Amino acid sequence: MRTQVAIIGAGPAGLLLGALLHKAGIDNIIIERQSADYVLGRIRAGILEQGTVNLLHEVGAGQRLAAGGTPHHSIELVFKNQRHSVDVTGLTGGKVVTAYGQTEVTRDLMDARASSGLTTVYEAGDVSIHDFDSAQPKVRFMQDGQQQELACDFIAGCDGFHGVCRASVPKNAIHEFERVYPFGWLGVLADVPPVSPHAIVYGNHERGFSLCSMRSLTRSRYYVQCPMTDKVEQWSDAAFWDELRLRIDPELAEKMVTGPSIEKSIAPLRSFVAEPMRFGSLFLAGDAAHIVPPTGAKGLNLAASDVKYLSDAFIDFYLEKSMAGVDGYSQRALARVWKAERFSWSLTSLLHRFPDTDGFGQKIQEAELDYLVHSSAASTALAENYVGLPL
Ligand code: APR
Ligand code: PHB
Repeated sequence: MRTQVAIIGAGPAGLLLGALLHKAGIDNIIIERQSADYVLGRIRAGILEQGTVNLLHEVGAGQRLAAGGTPHHSIELVFKNQRHSVDVTGLTGGKVVTAYGQTEVTRDLMDARASSGLTTVYEAGDVSIHDFDSAQPKVRFMQDGQQQELACDFIAGCDGFHGVCRASVPKNAIHEFERVYPFGWLGVLADVPPVSPHAIVYGNHERGFSLCSMRSLTRSRYYVQCPMTDKVEQWSDAAFWDELRLRIDPELAEKMVTGPSIEKSIAPLRSFVAEPMRFGSLFLAGDAAHIVPPTGAKGLNLAASDVKYLSDAFIDFYLEKSMAGVDGYSQRALARVWKAERFSWSLTSLLHRFPDTDGFGQKIQEAELDYLVHSSAASTALAENYVGLPL
């Protein structure tokens, strides 16, 4: 087998990269270790920056998003039992974020890829990458019990945090930066109307962080901060709803429609960046190269900006015969990654209760939030990071 770009991973990064390359006439094959249903079964984030929305339309995968996505013009911050609105659109000259589940993004990209006739190998076993320090890299994998070898010009490592690509880079060639947070997010998906359908609500409370989001006008997504030692079995639906309502303002708690969870899980929070994002003919993109705490809703959007830069680089190489894009990819992507890491870390630090957050620490958080919602300068800074910095 041979292709121009071998993409490892059929998550949002791999699928969007494949679509952008296909649009430019660059041949690519995706090698995915799970089944398509398994990939679609993952419950992930749901807030798209305008840049991500634009890319999905650019590759012809934006129709359902246009019909079912919910544009948000503001976010709300709850602290000291009071809710404050931040006019994100007004503060950014008209920009919005769009609530649309990552599962749906993945589905739309899978459908677009299937209709383009491109090759995606699902349930590939024992995937390994070779000779990426040369111009003739290879991917080896098992398919239907047969050992396969895929020759290519480039390998795009879009295989997530636990993938094989970053793990294949010699330890002395990569520098990893990490911050693991001392808490997790207990998330619930429920087929009840969202309590705040047009603005994500972020709560700072001495009991801990909370978040009120949505997937559609009939499906809600909620989170409460919980100790990393908690097990999801410890949390009944009733206990979750009670805790969530304690952490938001009384008016919102009163309005909240509760119901049985259709998904309930605890996710750890970490900040992580691997530098550089290129090793010879191997390029990392998305969660394979970096992780953000979900507080800023940047994970999916960073995957999108990475693959926009990477597709530009490959287009330069194949169409313009220029190495400038591939040589500049890592530096260009990391400049945006680190700004999103800073924003996500900052918002996480401001909204969560840390083990050492004492009375003074809680007061400082509340003072910073009070300043933020009453200062146009501070709320503009929040808003322009939230909608996504320019590509
Ligand atoms: N071989 C082939 N595929 C692999 C391998 C491997 N060795 N290891 C992992 N994969 C696949 C996973 O099964 C998954 O489908 O790579 C894909 C990686 O997808 P994601 O983890 O979703 O990462 P990415 O595409 O970068 O998207 C980032 O997803 O996890 C969320 O919060 C994250 O929203 C962000 C987005
Ligand atoms: C979500 O809808 O899952 C979501 C929304 C906003 C965030 C994080 C997660 O900041």
